[in-house]
Amino acid sequence: MQTGTGRFVDLIHRKKEGKALEPREILTMIRQYVAGEIPDYQMSAMLMAVCFQGMDDEELTALTLAMRDSGETVDLSRIEGIKVDKHSTGGVGDKTTLVIGPLVAACGVPVAKMSGRGLGFTGGTLDKLESIPGFCIGLSEDEFFEAVNSTGISVIGQTGNLAPADKMLYALRDVTGTVESIPLIASSIMSKKLAAGSDKILLDVTTGSGAFIKDLDQSRELARRMVAIGKSAGRETVAMLTSMDEPLGYAVGNNLEVKEVIRTLRGDGPADLKEVCLALAGMMLSLGREGLTYEEGRELAEKTMESGAAYDKFIAMVKGQGGDLSYIENPDRFERAAFQGEVKAKEDGYLVSMDTEGIGITAGLLGAGRDTKESKIDYSAGIIMKKKLGERVQKGDVIAELYTADKERLMRAEAYMGACCQISDIKPEPVKLVVDIIR
Ligand code: URA
Repeated sequence: MQTGTGRFVDLIHRKKEGKALEPREILTMIRQYVAGEIPDYQMSAMLMAVCFQGMDDEELTALTLAMRDSGETVDLSRIEGIKVDKHSTGGVGDKTTLVIGPLVAACGVPVAKMSGRGLGFTGGTLDKLESIPGFCIGLSEDEFFEAVNSTGISVIGQTGNLAPADKMLYALRDVTGTVESIPLIASSIMSKKLAAGSDKILLDVTTGSGAFIKDLDQSRELARRMVAIGKSAGRETVAMLTSMDEPLGYAVGNNLEVKEVIRTLRGDGPADLKEVCLALAGMMLSLGREGLTYEEGRELAEKTMESGAAYDKFIAMVKGQGGDLSYIENPDRFERAAFQGEVKAKEDGYLVSMDTEGIGITAGLLGAGRDTKESKIDYSAGIIMKKKLGERVQKGDVIAELYTADKERLMRAEAYMGACCQISDIKPEPVKLVVDIIR
């Protein structure tokens, strides 16, 4: 590593002291890490230094572009039409891609999407899709194009050589407590989005107790920095700030969330999930169709959802990627957890706030996430919330049901989740779901 001394440890010291790194140093760092010349323990220390010290715009652009250029970039020109990508900064019970993808595709805008796995306390679209028996997220590039051209939608994992630097850093951050950092999140998301080749990008920047960035001003800053990276790379980028002060919908955990998606696409989903999905789909449609406003896009999305066409598109996607349709047609077939527990209200009052990150951690304790890079997920594990923010509860009412394959995990999770929901006598204001739009 060319750092003056040639030692990477000196670069770590510089960042730790809050000094800026040179763009060429950042480029070399990413190249060497991907080549296996910088060990995970040193990169972990660098990531932790970035978490504490941040990065300026020049460093952030250099990091994002180095990560984008660490592998191949996708050419989506074999797919007709304007390709709009959507990416969430992560949340708890955030299953929007599985609803919006088929919905937007059913409106005629192609969805060629590369998604990610769970990170920290949040779930990942790929893990959710893989909870559908047979569903293949590892299509080749040709199969991916073929699927989008024939059904209008395909959702796959990042290809092996698309932003490999992000793939490696993402897995490392997940297990080293280095997820919550504006430059690390912004570069992770934007490097993938820029490499994935779409014409336009919609970012769902979550904010609140279940988001990586909890503070509204900081979330705005994350949105602003990602929109700026998109602009400097010549891609129209819009960010929607959405609330994550409680899990989206009721279900948290892989096959539990897929079942909720199926209900939503059949017209019987939770109101908050539906509202956020219609807003995001409306924005994707307005970006993907010349002359369509956001409001018109939202209206089109709502009509399409009601017509059942989005559900049909979801079926076509699952079929096209090898998933067993009998599970979609009859969701009771999904594997059920062997053990079930409950979290009950300790007093009378209104549910005024939730530690939504804590709820995500509880889902992980139940087996819905990974403790280490190698952990296997229990697809049936997770939580079904029985109450939403602002609801009146009485002492002893069930606030959440917990599901897991492992009795010991259940005991730990029940104890942890017990402290995640706060009750008070004062009725809270209703939650605003779409908080802001940043262009
Ligand atoms: N989503 C990503 O893709 N990367 C992050 O760092 C956080 C959320």
